[in-house]
Amino acid sequence: MAEHIRVMLSEEEVNDRIKAIGEQISKDYAGKEVHLVCVLKGGTFFMCELAKRITVPVSLDFMAVSSYGSKTKSSGVVKIVKDLDEPLMGRDVIVVEDIVDSGRTLSYLLEMLKERGPASLRLCTLLDKPDRRVIDVDVDYTGFQIPDEFVVGYGLDYAQKYRNLPYIGVVEFED
Ligand code: IMP
Ligand code: MG
Repeated sequence: MAEHIRVMLSEEEVNDRIKAIGEQISKDYAGKEVHLVCVLKGGTFFMCELAKRITVPVSLDFMAVSSYGSKTKSSGVVKIVKDLDEPLMGRDVIVVEDIVDSGRTLSYLLEMLKERGPASLRLCTLLDKPDRRVIDVDVDYTGFQIPDEFVVGYGLDYAQKYRNLPYIGVVEFED
């Protein structure tokens, strides 16, 4: 079965939006330093582009989590596969994610990070699928709200492929 990628958000649209979010964060955190926490692997492409657009001092850290549950449904119980290198105590933290879907993974993760005593904790996601939400999550910065379609590119994968696409696309199957 051949796969075809239909463009949903072009490279230019994504880049323009990331630039705007970077400007907004730079304004909101004026006079402060911001600590970006990236959730591997999906958040990496977005985080790098975003960090380049932020004009206040930026530090970065990474964590990897796996969600227990079936292939199609995350359970909301998150196991830390790789923890952060640095403490969050007293820092202004922004968690950077590729997409908020059901919200299960992120609501669990944010609760866990809150216990580490950051001065502030916000969430920034490139994509949001509000129709799929099962658990409420407060998103502070959103790139795009998208319909309930399975998307790839800009860090998002289908069976570990397509993360490197410089745009957001929908996988379509042809026979
Ligand atoms: P949830 O919010 O706990 O349901 O899990 C969200 C995670 O599911 C994201 O971080 C992605 O890794 C993955 N995911 C959700 N929707 C998509 C999609 O459309 N394409 C690729 N991965 C997705
Ligand atoms: Mg993710």
